[in-house]
Amino acid sequence: MTQATIDGARALLAQRIDPIIEQDLVSAGAVADITLENGVLGVVLRFGFPADRYEKELQAEFGKLFADLAGVDSVRVEVQWDVETRSVQPGLQPLAGIRNIIAVSSGKGGVGKSTTAVNLALALAAEGAKVGILDADIYGPSQPRMLGLSGRKPTSTDGKRIHPLEAFGIYCMSIGFLIDEDQPMIWRGPMVTQALQQLLGETNWGDIDYLIVDMPPGTGDIQLTLSQRVPVSGAVIVTTPQDIALLDARKGLRMFEKVKVPVLGIVENMSLHICSNCGHQEPIFGSGGGERMAEQYGVPLLGNLPLDINIREEADAGQPSVVADPDGPAARAYLDIARRMCARLAAGGNMPGAKFPTISFEDD
Ligand SMILES: Nc1ncnc2c1ncn2[C@@H]1O[C@H](COP(=O)(O)OP(=O)(O)OP(=O)(O)O)[C@@H](O)[C@H]1O
Ligand SMILES: [Mg+2]
Ligand SMILES: [Zn+2]
Repeated sequence: MTQATIDGARALLAQRIDPIIEQDLVSAGAVADITLENGVLGVVLRFGFPADRYEKELQAEFGKLFADLAGVDSVRVEVQWDVETRSVQPGLQPLAGIRNIIAVSSGKGGVGKSTTAVNLALALAAEGAKVGILDADIYGPSQPRMLGLSGRKPTSTDGKRIHPLEAFGIYCMSIGFLIDEDQPMIWRGPMVTQALQQLLGETNWGDIDYLIVDMPPGTGDIQLTLSQRVPVSGAVIVTTPQDIALLDARKGLRMFEKVKVPVLGIVENMSLHICSNCGHQEPIFGSGGGERMAEQYGVPLLGNLPLDINIREEADAGQPSVVADPDGPAARAYLDIARRMCARLAAGGNMPGAKFPTISFEDD
């Protein structure tokens, strides 16, 4: 009976499409072991992305999935995960101590790039990863405020390397710590990219799995230079559903394509307005734009976030949604996007619809 039950469990897993890996766990090679001892069905899974919280969700789901198998009294899911360094642009080397750098970018300003970046960083930390965030938006650094670190100054023990500041378990470095946040920066492009490279290289990040970079908005010289010089394993593009934002997001795709950075996916922000009075939903910026764009260019839509007053208020108050309301709908959406982003990175193109390392463009 034991072997039949184990085979039955494997067959059930083979029929279930994992929402993060986008294929069944058996075909994905993620099932390390299935055992049955004293009525306990043990399922050991192996992922290339952080999954402490996902493990708990799978535990709940699999308890039901396997409940009817003969001889199973309870189910115990164990996820073993390990983040590997993925390749970076040709000619560059990954930075020591940072497994992967992920650029969060947007074609135009104000689409919610910084809010998305910080919530994704916090979501990865919630999954158990060691995470840093570099606020590279030199013209409008907003990570200090969103992480409740405004007014704090980083320190250095040896006068050479700066210690990042810590909030909610993630490390943050921002030009906003070093300059007056209210003083607009008047540096020219080359100074900006040099300052940012220095900020990246001279920060004592420790050993981290992911460094999320909140890129300056747009696709100009600064962004292009950064995407050429910072060793990035993948990029995420944040857009709103308006046509104009989508047009700019396409430029972002094209920029990363040029420098051979795989685009892990698109995040559609402010896709639906949810009324705080009655909860009715309205696509005030249009709908389906991110999806169409994803289809058109063969990059996945990692997820979408509603235009939700809580997301804004929580970020403004220095406690982004993932920490302010970790079980709320916004946090769950960010967690899902973060998992899919890192699963894509880990798979390095071995996923349905993945087009690593290049995306092909027709006219737009
Ligand atoms: N999904 C959302 N729902 C409601 N408000 C949001 C959402 N995402 C972002 N915001 C709010 O929109 C404003 C702009 O967001 P954010 O600063 O993250 O954008 P950005 O793209 O980084 O902008 P910038 O180009 O200025 O750097 C902020 O006030 C933020 O709180
Ligand atoms: Mg910003
Ligand atoms: Zn209403």
